[in-house]
Amino acid sequence: MSYLGFERITHRYIQDGQPVLQDLSLQVAEGEFVSLLGRSGCGKTTLLKMAAGLITPTEGRVSIAGQPVTKPHEQIGMVFQSPTLLEWLTVRDNVLLPVALQRKPTGADREAADARLARMGLAGHEDKFPGQLSGGQQSRVALARALMREPSLLLLDEPFAALDALTREELQEDLLRLCAAQTMTVLFITHDIAEAVYVSDRVVMLQDGRIAADTAVPLPEQREYKLRYEEPFNKLCLSLRQTMEGGGRV
Ligand SMILES: Nc1ncnc2c1ncn2[C@@H]1O[C@H](COP(=O)(O)OP(=O)(O)OP(=O)(O)O)[C@@H](O)[C@H]1O
Ligand SMILES: [Mg+2]
Repeated sequence: MSYLGFERITHRYIQDGQPVLQDLSLQVAEGEFVSLLGRSGCGKTTLLKMAAGLITPTEGRVSIAGQPVTKPHEQIGMVFQSPTLLEWLTVRDNVLLPVALQRKPTGADREAADARLARMGLAGHEDKFPGQLSGGQQSRVALARALMREPSLLLLDEPFAALDALTREELQEDLLRLCAAQTMTVLFITHDIAEAVYVSDRVVMLQDGRIAADTAVPLPEQREYKLRYEEPFNKLCLSLRQTMEGGGRV
């Protein structure tokens, strides 16, 4: 059953301008993990912002659990492309932000935030400020914040882009662990083909505002790092890379 649906989406930022997305349809099932790949400027963030209710498409319909998306929705957790931690708030208060925007956080909320941070390997960092953390730790805080209200839909826009390869792999494992612990539908944007293949059930490639490929990932559900060095994994990465190459210069 489709949980997140994009139906015949066309979007123009400028009236009468070139559409950024063109008659695009995509269905994501409940609990499914779908990655969006594609060159810079092909419309990935635009699509994610539509799912978040931050942009209304010029034409077409976006729905979550059958309901049209018309505004930001509290069942959604989002990690934006650029770091959006508030420098003047502690790590704990950053994680509590989604709650604080609605009501005064309670002691129980603070405990929940600390427990979430501990699960992300950040115990002992609660009272620090973002500037005192490494890039990887900041990404973990942003993820902890997105998960604070136990979203049913998680939207991630290149959350690990600025990190070194090993930290990135660790965060991919963290993310998979979090997804296994609760039913979440995930739409994940990345430029990294191997990252997309490793974390996803399905990889969707966008090109010129349309879907150029929609590929199921035929790997065992339980991912482990050795997979990255095995033939099926590398074959799939190569084939996606070739599809991408078909759309112009890489
Ligand atoms: N607010 C805006 N006003 C006008 N044009 C915009 C706006 N936001 C994005 N665009 C244009 O729409 C196109 C798609 O942008 P989008 O941010 O969705 O791309 P993207 O695939 O996420 O790229 P990247 O990989 O670089 O993040 C780009 O050509 C961009 O210049
Ligand atoms: Mg983007």
